Order: sequence, then structure tokens, then C-alpha cells
Amino acid sequence: MLLDAHNRTIRDLRISLTDRCNFRCFYCLPHGEPSWAKKEKLLSFEELEYLAEIFVSLGIEKIRLTGGEPLIRRDVPVLVEKLSRLKPKLSDIALTTNGYDFARHSEALKAAGLDRVTFSLDTLRRDRFEEITAVDALEKVLDAIETARRLGFDPVKVNAVIVRGRNDDELVEFARFARENEVSFRFIEFMPLDSGHDWSREMVVPGKEIYQKINEVFPLKLIETTRGSGTAWKYEFAAGVKGEIGIIAPVTEMFCGACSRIRLTADGQIRTCLFSTTEHDLRGLLRVGASHAELTDFIKAAVLKKEPSHRINDPAFVQPERTMSFIGG
Ligand code: GTP
Ligand code: 5AD
Ligand code: SF4
Repeated sequence: MLLDAHNRTIRDLRISLTDRCNFRCFYCLPHGEPSWAKKEKLLSFEELEYLAEIFVSLGIEKIRLTGGEPLIRRDVPVLVEKLSRLKPKLSDIALTTNGYDFARHSEALKAAGLDRVTFSLDTLRRDRFEEITAVDALEKVLDAIETARRLGFDPVKVNAVIVRGRNDDELVEFARFARENEVSFRFIEFMPLDSGHDWSREMVVPGKEIYQKINEVFPLKLIETTRGSGTAWKYEFAAGVKGEIGIIAPVTEMFCGACSRIRLTADGQIRTCLFSTTEHDLRGLLRVGASHAELTDFIKAAVLKKEPSHRINDPAFVQPERTMSFIGG
């Protein structure tokens, strides 16, 4: 088992496949041409398969593939197929995508053993979609969500980062979308992980406010009274209505005490927290030919250094250098 120094068991590994993205969401990637990681620094699928086997032998049960935009890497279904060989000890393989290329790869991903998919979608309005992402692709993303449902991915989750003044007037429309499309729609508080360092507390729409605004129109019922190691408070609608709401409030209702997550960046660095200011160079060790046992010990030692919590609300908070596109959400 992977135990940290604060008695938390680490069961979830989030692997970023690339720091690149075909969108330019204002809260994530810098304007202009970002300095992408060099190709030779990215872990190959063979390296990822080898490392994943070690992580799973240490007790990792869930792997989520993220980015950047993970589907920018070629042949992601091939990687999913490799990871599927780690089942059933690995119980869940999930993907977070912006949806742009999902429909094209959806059947291959399903066949390879992908269990779940989460789409990032911050608006349902076409003009605004382009303002937020710099790409006119709302229809494509909606089509991807529909395709995922048709193929039987369950649940299909949709993530929206809510930013004051940008999309907080769409809360009820998002909830309606969850009902009509029978998806789990998740509202995320904006965290200080943006490239522009433009984050300010005024831009955060608190989870409680999100709940109230939706509940006024569509009465919500809490599904479970704890979040477990998960991130979201989950709500259902009135009896008989499908679809679900999740509220993820890392800023106003920190959930670090039950965190079960670690991350591997596309260039092979272990990050023990989204807000880590140090990383652990697993790629370096792997590429100098370290043994299975040495890699195992390195991972265990890194986990022991996992931060007790983020410090967003501490006046001395320092934003990590790497932004979300590098770390993976
Ligand atoms: P599953 O339980 O595997 O479905 O994952 P999840 O519920 O954590 O959801 P997902 O991976 O879609 O994460 C949703 C969002 O929550 C991310 O995009 C982040 O914004 C935020 N988030 C996820 N993990 C963490 C975390 O460890 N710390 C903080 N502060 N935020 C997180
Ligand atoms: N705060 C909260 N969530 C974020 N994401 C990206 N940047 C932020 C941020 N600053 C989320 C996006 C996407 C996932 C990969 O990370 O919604 O779904
Ligand atoms: Fe875990 Fe860090 Fe996220 Fe807190 S901020 S839940 S400790 S990854």
C-alpha cells in the first residue's frame, strides 16, 4: 500500500500524456506560443506501461489520463489497451478530454478498455465557447458527449470551471443540460493554477452559491453525506429525473484531508499535490536504468513527502510554477 505521512492511502494516479493542447482556455494556457516540453522528455507508452505496473503493484487502483489534451498523443487506445492488462487489480481507467478528438477515437478507446470519460466544457453558448477556448468547437464537443453516452460510458461527466463574470450566468442552463442529457455535470471552483497568474478571490464562485442558484430552480438532493476520497458533493434531481450535479469546491471547502491522489506529469515527474512546489524525477531514474526495486522505493519516498493540504487560503500562498496544462487536472 502507498501510505503518506498523514495516514492517507494513495489509490489514484493521474497521468498527463502531454502538456500540449489544441484549445487555449484563458484560465489554463498562456497567450502566444507556450514553451512545450521537448518530445524526448515525454514518457513513451512502453515507459508508462512499465511504471503503471509498478504503481499498481503498490496499490494504485484508478488511473486517469489527462493532459494538456491527452488525445493529442497518437494512438492513445494503444496505451489504454496496455493499461487494461493491469486489470482487475487496476479497477478503473478514465480519461479527461476537451472532447475535440474524442468521437473519432471513441470506439477504439472503448474497445481498449477505457471505463470512464470526463469532458471539459465551460459554456453552452457558441460565441462564448470561442471566447473561452479560442476555438469554434462547441458542436464537436456536444457531439463527443452524445457519442460517449451512446457507447455506454457510465457515468459521463462534464466539468465546468466556474469563473465570476465569465460563465456564472449559465449555472441553471448547465443543470438543465445535465437533466436533459443524463450526464453528471460538475461545477468546479476556479483555483490559482492559471498561466496568466490572473486568479483572484473575486473570480471564485463559491460552491455554496452554485448550489443555491441551481437549487432555486431545480431542487437538489444530496446523494451521499460524505465525499469519501472524492472531490465532489454529489446531488440528484427530483425522483425520476436522470442526470446528476457535482460541486467541487477546493477553495472554499478544502478536501485535502481525504486526498488519495498523486500525479505523473507528461515529462515523468511525480507531483504529490496539484499545488506542489517540488517534483520527483521518476523519468530521470527510469532512464538511467534503475531497477524495479529502486523505482518502487523512489515512489514510496515521494508519497511520504505528500503535502498535508494546499495553502490557497494562506496569505503566504505561492502559486506553483507549473500550470494545469502541465500538471493535468
Ligand atoms: P473521479 O473520482 O475519478 O471521477 O475523479 P474526480 O471526481 O476527482 O474528477 P476529475 O478527475 O474530473 O476532477 C475534477 C476536477 O476537480 C479537476 O479538474 C480539478 O479541477 C479538481 N481536482 C481533482 N483532483 C483534485 C485534487 O486532488 N485537488 C484539488 N484541489 N482539486 C482537484
Ligand atoms: N481551476 C479549477 N479547475 C481547473 N481545470 C483547469 N484549470 C483549472 C483551474 N485553474 C480543470 C478543467 C479541466 C481539468 C483538466 O482541469 O476543468 O476539466
Ligand atoms: Fe490533494 Fe493537494 Fe488536491 Fe489537496 S490540493 S486534494 S492535497 S492534491
